[in-house]
Amino acid sequence: MTGGGSSIPEVQALLRVLAAGRNVVEIGAAFGDAAVAMAETARSVVTVERDPERAAVARRRLAGLANVELLEGDWREALGGRGPFGLFFFDAGPDYDFETAFDYLEPGGLLVKDDLTPGRPVEGDAAREFLLRDPRLAAVEILTTSRSAAIVAVRR
Ligand SMILES: C[S@@+](CC[C@H](N)C(=O)[O-])C[C@H]1O[C@@H](n2cnc3c(N)ncnc32)[C@H](O)[C@@H]1O
Repeated sequence: MTGGGSSIPEVQALLRVLAAGRNVVEIGAAFGDAAVAMAETARSVVTVERDPERAAVARRRLAGLANVELLEGDWREALGGRGPFGLFFFDAGPDYDFETAFDYLEPGGLLVKDDLTPGRPVEGDAAREFLLRDPRLAAVEILTTSRSAAIVAVRR
């Protein structure tokens, strides 16, 4: 089973707000916790998990949520042809393919990366370099707890 657990409640609360009325994609479903939170407010949620054991747990968890679709496999292959999305929750572990994620965003769409350590320099940090420096995005880094941060970026 791949490492990396579920998002913390503070991040789920943030996602619940940002997902409102939007078509959402999440990469890295894990056990479905964030998908459940986003489904409360989103128009639709597509969530992708490549670990078969985790996908099986998430499938049971998400069964019955009419606005959620779980895809199994690597997100780049699984998402082919879908989108654009109004919220992209980028949560597939140590994956820095933000350029591909950007292509799935509609104008005004949000790209969210959590699980960051606050106060780290931008240089040498792949997530911060892309999300905070790319001129096609406007972005803000926020604390989700006193010891964790997230970046919320919007496609201009
Ligand atoms: C931190 S967990 C996700 C937590 C979940 N988003 C939540 O908030 O509850 C990261 C997950 O990404 C999955 N993952 C990693 N690389 C992936 C890929 N290329 N495609 C799809 N899922 C991937 C891992 O198997 C793992 O379950």
